[in-house]
Amino acid sequence: MEQIDKKPRSGGTTHFGYQDVAVEDKTRLVRGVFESVAGKYDLMNDLMSFGVHRLWKRHFIAISNIHPGQRVLDLAGGTGDIAALMSKRVGSSGSVVLSDINEAMLAVGRQRMEDRGLVGNIEYSLANAEKLPFADGEFDAVTIAFGLRNVTDQPAALREMYRVLKPGGRLVIEEPDLNHKGVKLLALAEKMLLMRSHFYTPQKIWKMIASCGCSAKIENDGRYTAWVVAEK
Ligand SMILES: C[S@@+](CC[C@H](N)C(=O)[O-])C[C@H]1O[C@@H](n2cnc3c(N)ncnc32)[C@H](O)[C@@H]1O
Repeated sequence: MEQIDKKPRSGGTTHFGYQDVAVEDKTRLVRGVFESVAGKYDLMNDLMSFGVHRLWKRHFIAISNIHPGQRVLDLAGGTGDIAALMSKRVGSSGSVVLSDINEAMLAVGRQRMEDRGLVGNIEYSLANAEKLPFADGEFDAVTIAFGLRNVTDQPAALREMYRVLKPGGRLVIEEPDLNHKGVKLLALAEKMLLMRSHFYTPQKIWKMIASCGCSAKIENDGRYTAWVVAEK
């Protein structure tokens, strides 16, 4: 039976691909992995999903219920696909924070935004999702797409997402649906070779969120992707 990792404790070990590594080292190692792929991340994403990730991301934005004038946060936002869509939704009276732990990914994201003329309502934040540099209740929506599985202490990141969300705000998490065989293979490949990810089923993510006090529901496309949507 699938288990949620106990909170990785300082001084203890956690998964990194096929190895167990010190908790303190994993975040640094994950950062190194994305450092090395930042320049080719978008191409890799298109090739690995046959471009379908764009449709999943549009659906993600549709269910995030973002309105003009809102302040929203996209965590592990990488090269900014989600933040770009959000920027159009919140408009000039709103603001988007694109946040990632990796400077190289964030730099590619900022360049892409500027190239597309998306400036003025976007801020950038280099931050670990487990320890966010934002005030309680600062955001109308907090999102993380295809990033939770890369975070070392996922329950801590979910607690932080909940903390910085306004009462009535919406939390949206998008991940490949581990209940499907194809995704199990992807999880194995990512774990062993590429991103050193640690996947959970949407049901486990739902449980972790529910323990923060949110009411949450799971949507899926019946194939590869699931969205866990919660209200504070
Ligand atoms: C697979 S990419 C997803 C990027 C983007 N959300 C997308 O859908 O294209 C995962 C991202 O998570 C970031 N990441 C990994 N661990 C993180 C952490 N602890 N806090 C914040 N971001 C993290 C990586 O730097 C990387 O940019």
